Amino acid sequence: MKNKRLIAVLAAIVVIIAGTLAYQSVSRGSKNQGTKTVKVGVLQYVTHEALDEIYRGIKDGLKKEGYSGDKIKIEFLNAEGDQSKVQTMSQTLVSHKNQLLIGIATPAAQGLASATKDIPIVMGAVTDPVGAKLVKDLKNPGGNITGVSDKTPIADQIDLIKELTPDVKTVGLLYSSSEDNSKSQVEEFKKLAEKKGYKVETYAVPSTNEIATTMNVLLSKVDAVWTPLDNTIASAFPTVVAAAKDANKPIYPSVDTMVSEGGLASVVVDQYDLGVATGKMAAKILKGEKAGDIPVQVFDEGTPVINKTVAQELGVTIPADLAKKAKSVN
Ligand code: TRP
Repeated sequence: MKNKRLIAVLAAIVVIIAGTLAYQSVSRGSKNQGTKTVKVGVLQYVTHEALDEIYRGIKDGLKKEGYSGDKIKIEFLNAEGDQSKVQTMSQTLVSHKNQLLIGIATPAAQGLASATKDIPIVMGAVTDPVGAKLVKDLKNPGGNITGVSDKTPIADQIDLIKELTPDVKTVGLLYSSSEDNSKSQVEEFKKLAEKKGYKVETYAVPSTNEIATTMNVLLSKVDAVWTPLDNTIASAFPTVVAAAKDANKPIYPSVDTMVSEGGLASVVVDQYDLGVATGKMAAKILKGEKAGDIPVQVFDEGTPVINKTVAQELGVTIPADLAKKAKSVN
């Protein structure tokens, strides 16, 4: 009788201990899953306001999809416009076992693409992903790369030049010879502008060092300057602005940040929105979708933006309907 009771007590104790252990392991398991941290590597090509804005958007896009705090660890590197740093930093991000990589601007995305064919890569604001040989087909990228493309509405930019400065006949295009993103924009601008009767002269600089001297030559030959979404020009834009101001000639850039820095006007895609879209796309991949299955998202609808201070300095009058729909900076 006594023995039976003892066995029952022992059995009860065993059941309680086993139950507690089982409960602990289950709760530990789910807790682990809840705090699982994803590792994301971000490579920015160079510092300029537009790319900084895109990176801010990327972090917010990831956050909106649940990747913030201890859910994500971002390793952020900036190559400061140095091509050899692009390469070493791309390899660093791969060797640190980041599970997803984001390249901000074309040269950064190209560096990452040559460093890995396995880890998924999201392009942040790459103007011409096909021309830059990053994907074969925007709708169906395949491989380990997808992302967001900022295709500025160049035809609208040319219409704006006509509307604001009808006397302009010759336009000088200033861009960097080393950026694939600029090549395709320059070709498109030239084609469309010549169709509208403009004379177009192209000036490619090898690096920021040649901008000042190139501007001197260019300004003696053209009535206005146009720059594409070019990282080299963007990172040294104050030099361009100073030269154009001395010559009293307008600059038409391709992004609002460069209009506020002293450009006259443009038709632009919102940089922060590009970043948010990039971050959200990265989140889709972190949740299990394959990069190659996600079509490249193209932003090609622009908003006009005008620098009123520069317009006044140049004696440019802004037509009333344009003033109404344009965003004004400064
Ligand atoms: N689209 C550019 C590229 O492909 C990057 C970029 C985004 C950019 N916004 C910009 C460059 C503004 C100059 C200015 O590399």
